[in-house]
Amino acid sequence: MSGVFITFEGPEGSGKTSVIKAIEEFLRADGYDILVTREPGGIRIAEQIRDIILSKENTEMDGRAEALLFAASRAQHFHQKIVPALAEDKIILCDRFIDSSLAYQGHARGLGIDEVYDINAFAIDQKLPDATIFIDVSPEVGLKRVFNNQRKIDRLDLETLEFHKKVYEGYQLLAEKYQERFYAVNGENPIETVIEDTLQIIKTVL
Ligand code: TMP
Repeated sequence: MSGVFITFEGPEGSGKTSVIKAIEEFLRADGYDILVTREPGGIRIAEQIRDIILSKENTEMDGRAEALLFAASRAQHFHQKIVPALAEDKIILCDRFIDSSLAYQGHARGLGIDEVYDINAFAIDQKLPDATIFIDVSPEVGLKRVFNNQRKIDRLDLETLEFHKKVYEGYQLLAEKYQERFYAVNGENPIETVIEDTLQIIKTVL
């Protein structure tokens, strides 16, 4: 596998989807072969699992079931889409990946970062991203953006502020644990600055 696997992480409302779109355009203009994808989802079966996980009707979902469903959707997406793209030397820009499971299910749900890592390691043959861009936005600012924007509200958006604070704390732990691949960008700056900062990091990675 010789492509480059870059993931984007952040709390709700971090703006990562807009940042990815802009980065995709810059890199394509520079002649790079890019694949943009997302989790949970990115491919038919994984998108079906996404619908189950994020449905506002599934309020009784057990935390372990939630972690396993994210891992199942990741296994399908990884083996069907990411591995072939890496083999074709593409640059992959993936909106969320394993670190979301470690921060949300491992830390915020209290299942344990190591425990959630283990089920995900099985799902993805222990392949971690080459680089992870963490768009750093406080839970308060992020949630305000989500509820003021047009985007669809899902089951996890409706968790308490306490939960989202734990997610943020989880990301801080991961930034410490995975210093060699984690790059933080201040997501509370104007969007043009966030895009420029992200682009600079990606250029050094490439
Ligand atoms: P999105 O809003 O960025 O599309 O992500 C969907 C939601 O799923 C978001 O609340 C984060 C959450 N999530 C997890 O809890 N664990 C995971 O492994 C992933 C990929 C997402």
